[in-house]
Amino acid sequence: MANKFNVAVVGATGAVGRVFLTMLEERSFPVGKLKLLASKRSEGKHISFLGQQVEVHETTASSFDDIDFAFISVSADISRQFAPIAVESGALVIDDSSAFRMLPNVPLVVPEINGSDVEWHDGIISIPNCSTIQMVMVLYPLHKVNPIKRVVVDTFQAVSGAGTSAAMELTQQTADWYEEKPIKHEAFSEQIAFNVLPFIGELLSSGYTEEEEKMIFETQKILHDKSISVSATCVRVPVHSAHSEAIHIEMENPMDLREVRQILAAAPGVEILDEYKDGSYKLPTPLRIEGTDEVYVGRIRRDSSVPNGIAMWTVADNLRKGAALNALQIAEEVIRRDCR
Ligand SMILES: NC(=O)c1ccc[n+]([C@@H]2O[C@H](COP(=O)([O-])OP(=O)(O)OC[C@H]3O[C@@H](n4cnc5c(N)ncnc54)[C@H](OP(=O)(O)O)[C@@H]3O)[C@@H](O)[C@H]2O)c1
Repeated sequence: MANKFNVAVVGATGAVGRVFLTMLEERSFPVGKLKLLASKRSEGKHISFLGQQVEVHETTASSFDDIDFAFISVSADISRQFAPIAVESGALVIDDSSAFRMLPNVPLVVPEINGSDVEWHDGIISIPNCSTIQMVMVLYPLHKVNPIKRVVVDTFQAVSGAGTSAAMELTQQTADWYEEKPIKHEAFSEQIAFNVLPFIGELLSSGYTEEEEKMIFETQKILHDKSISVSATCVRVPVHSAHSEAIHIEMENPMDLREVRQILAAAPGVEILDEYKDGSYKLPTPLRIEGTDEVYVGRIRRDSSVPNGIAMWTVADNLRKGAALNALQIAEEVIRRDCR
């Protein structure tokens, strides 16, 4: 394989795209040519990369000529439009959207878990939903040792998970609230400032929302195990970055809490932060965890409502491990396995 790779970033001006560019820098990804792409609205803007101002261009059918890796972080509709063109042009697409995740010929990869799945791609590799990634990062190491039968998860998802305009809406609504101005909403169907919204995505015939079904079916695909049952309630909260999750796991066999901690402490990409001393807690919170790469776990305890139950609290940066970092780790895995 080449030493350097020509990279296109579609959605370079977006919440994930911007973090992705900092990850390329931080992890010294071997970038040859870099193409920054977005919509027509962003044509001519500049974004800094390794000290240079790189111009953004409109994404078109010819954007992918001579590109090795196309990292796509746009809505599912736009991904469906451009990913096949990028593949046709010879690029390997690593896609952040939900467009291709459940297709049988598209690997859905969290490198710490199913990195070898990158080997059977057909030109597109998907990254899972941000809330799924952080949950499977703690499920997988336990599941390997003691099969997990059932998971009940409640999420507390940051507004940046819904994109740049959603993050700006929280800031604007908060300012308007204090200035007693009328509160407008567009990115969310109701006011998010000083509120929580117990629905993310469309409501489906199952009674779950789209986001909740992603957590169910993506988990089974990543863990290669359709027998794991998952029930999720996904909630948007007025937090800028980093998603939190309360996870309740039912395992096949009893497991000592000390062993649970040992397994999680040894799992790549997972950090335990579970301190209680002199009446005060040091636990994962969005403000503490924002900007980091690991999935943080705290409040590890027995779930006494079921046999062999464990409960825990996790927080991870949705823009990093939940999106940009996971996408880049996939590319690193592809390079390592020489399977572009
Ligand atoms: N945010 C997260 O935490 C997160 C986590 C995991 C996965 N994802 C997924 O990642 C994708 C991007 O999310 P985001 O949060 O970064 O959204 P975002 O902040 O709204 O950014 C959207 C990006 O799409 C670009 N775009 C819009 N229309 C386009 C077009 N016709 N052609 C080319 N580019 C176009 C925008 O460019 P302009 O600036 O020119 O409009 C912008 O760069 C989504 O599929 C999302 O579900 C997001």
